[in-house]
Amino acid sequence: MSPVVVLAPDVSRKIAAGEVIERPFSVVKELVENSLDAGADSVRIELERGGRSLIRVADNGCGMSRADALLCFERHSTSKLRTEEDLERIATLGFRGEALPSIAAVSLLTLKTSDGTGAAATMIARRPDAEPEVRDAAHPRGTSVEVRDLFFNLPARRKFLRSEASELNLIARFVRTIALAFPEVGFALVNGRREILSWPRAGSLRDRLFQAQGGDASDRLLEMDATRGESRLTGFASRPPLGRSDKAEQHFFVNRRPVKDRVLQAALNQSYRGLLEKGLHPEAFLFLSIPYGEVDVNVHPAKSEVRFLDSQAVFRLVAQAVERAVLGSAGVKPLELPAEAAVTEAGAFSVREPGRAETDFWRVSPGGRRDAGLLFPGRPDGPVARPRVLGQLRDTYIVAADEEGLQVIDQHNAHEKVLFEQFKEARAAGKMPRRQVLLPILFDLPPDRALQAEENAPLFEEAGFRVEFLGGRTFSLKEFPDIMSVEEALSAFLSLLEEREGRGADWKQDGILASLACRAAVKAGQPLSVEKMEVLVEALFRLPHHALCPHGRPILVRLDVAQIERGLKRPPN
Ligand SMILES: Nc1ncnc2c1ncn2[C@@H]1O[C@H](COP(=O)(O)OP(=O)(O)OP(=O)(O)O)[C@@H](O)[C@H]1O
Ligand SMILES: [Mg+2]
Repeated sequence: MSPVVVLAPDVSRKIAAGEVIERPFSVVKELVENSLDAGADSVRIELERGGRSLIRVADNGCGMSRADALLCFERHSTSKLRTEEDLERIATLGFRGEALPSIAAVSLLTLKTSDGTGAAATMIARRPDAEPEVRDAAHPRGTSVEVRDLFFNLPARRKFLRSEASELNLIARFVRTIALAFPEVGFALVNGRREILSWPRAGSLRDRLFQAQGGDASDRLLEMDATRGESRLTGFASRPPLGRSDKAEQHFFVNRRPVKDRVLQAALNQSYRGLLEKGLHPEAFLFLSIPYGEVDVNVHPAKSEVRFLDSQAVFRLVAQAVERAVLGSAGVKPLELPAEAAVTEAGAFSVREPGRAETDFWRVSPGGRRDAGLLFPGRPDGPVARPRVLGQLRDTYIVAADEEGLQVIDQHNAHEKVLFEQFKEARAAGKMPRRQVLLPILFDLPPDRALQAEENAPLFEEAGFRVEFLGGRTFSLKEFPDIMSVEEALSAFLSLLEEREGRGADWKQDGILASLACRAAVKAGQPLSVEKMEVLVEALFRLPHHALCPHGRPILVRLDVAQIERGLKRPPN
C-alpha cells in the first residue's frame, strides 16, 4: 500500500465540495436558502440549460460588507452561528458555513453584494485555481451570485449530470416547496428565455397555496391549527373523502425548513386512516413550529432531515390537528370501513406500471363501492351470468367456461372495452377523472398542429385535457385524465392530436376515449392473477354488449360444448 499523505488543499476542497454540491439543484438550494436567511423578500433565479451553464440567484436581502464578502468563501465562515450552544437553537436555514466555499471550489463564481450603507458595492470573481478578483461594483442592497460552468473541474461529476428537464423539474419543485414556507417572499424562476414561475409576495399561506397549487386548492384542503405546549402545527391538508393516489404532495416544514421526516409522515397518514378510502393518501402542507431546543437540524448533509427530542408529542400534535380540522368541517364524516373489505382487497388492485397512475377501473370493488376519484360507481349487484375464469393463456388470453362451453377472452380488448364504457359514462356525467399539474407542462407545436390543438380544445377538454394557448407556438397542459402519470400526459396528448389529424369529423369524442382506454388497458403479454381476471370478466359481462372492442375487433371467441363434442367424435345424446 502507498504511504499515508495529507491531501493537497485543492484536492480535499473538491472532495468536501462534492458532498454539499451534488448537482445544479444543490447550488440553487444553497443560494436560495442564503437569500432567505438574509431576509430578502424577493428572490430571482435564472438558469441556462437547467443550471449546467449558468445559475444566477439575486436577492434584496441584507447584503454584505466588503470584509464579510471576502470572508464568506472561507470554509466554516458563517454569520449564523457563533458558539456551540448556538448549534442547539438554529433559526436559519444555513449554519455550517460550507455552501459558498463548496460552490466556489467547483465552478466559476461571481458575487456582487451591497449592504446598503452607502459604501460601494463589492464584486468578487473567483476561479478555484486563481486568486480572486475584487472590485467596486454597482449593485442595489442585496446579493447576486452567479455560478458558471458547474463541475468544469470535476469531469466525472459533469458526465453524470441528469438531463436539463429533470434538473429543472427538481429545481422547480424545490422553489415551489420553499415558497410555501415563505409566502411573504416573491419568487421568480427562469430557464433560458422561459419563465417557469413568477409569484409575487403573498399575504398568507392560503394565497401562496393558491399561486402554487392552483385555484381549487382551498376547496380540496382543510385548514389545520393545533397547539401543544410551546409547539404549534398549522397548515392545510386534504378534505376527506378527497385524497390522492400517491404521497407526492405531502410537504412538511419544521420551523420553516422543508424536511423529510418519518414521524410527521406517519402521524399524518395514520391520522387519515379511516377518513380516506383505501389506496388514497392525504395531500398536506404542514408547518410545525417547535422550540429550537427540541429539534436537531444538524443530522443530514443536505439539512433535509431533523430529529425530535420528543417524537411522541409531535405525533400527537399532528393527530390532534387533523382530528380538529376534520371534525370542525361541516359535512365531513369519517368513512365507515366496509364489512366487505376483504373482497375489496382482492378486487381493488393496481395495474401500476412504472410511474403509471392506478387505473380507476380496478378500484371499483365488486360490491359497487365508490372508490378513489369516486368516479366509476359499479352497477348494482345482481345475478350476473358470467363465465368462470379457468386461467390465462400465453399471458394474453383469459380462458373461462360457463354451461355452454369455453370462452377465450382477449384481455387487452376486454379491458379496453370496459374502460371505454366507463369513460363514456364519466364524460356524460361531466366527471372525467382529472388530475391537475402544479406546474403546467409547457410545450411547443408546429403551426399546423397548433391550429388543430386550438380548434379541438373543447373536445380535448371534455376528455380531461386542459390545454391553453400561451402565445407564439407555446401551449400549456394544465390538466389531464387521471389515468396516466404526469410523464405520460404530454405524449398521450400529442399522439391524440396526431390521431385527430388523420381522421374525419366522425372521430370526435369517442375516438379520444377509445385511445385513452387503449392506453390505460392491460397489455397482451402481461401476467394477471386470477382475482384480476375475475374482476375484469365480471365487469365485461355486466356490459350490455361485450362482443366487440371500441375499435371494432372481437373481444372473445367461444367454443361450444357441441363443437367440443363433435371434435371428440362423441355421439350426441
Ligand atoms: N445572499 C446573501 N446575503 C447576505 N449574506 C450572505 C448571502 N449568502 C451568504 N451570505 C453570508 O455568507 C455566509 C456564508 O454562506 P454559506 O452559505 O457558505 O454558509 P451558511 O449559510 O452560513 O451555512 P450553510 O453552509 O449551512 O449554508 C453566510 O453565513 C452569510 O453571512
Ligand atoms: Mg448557506
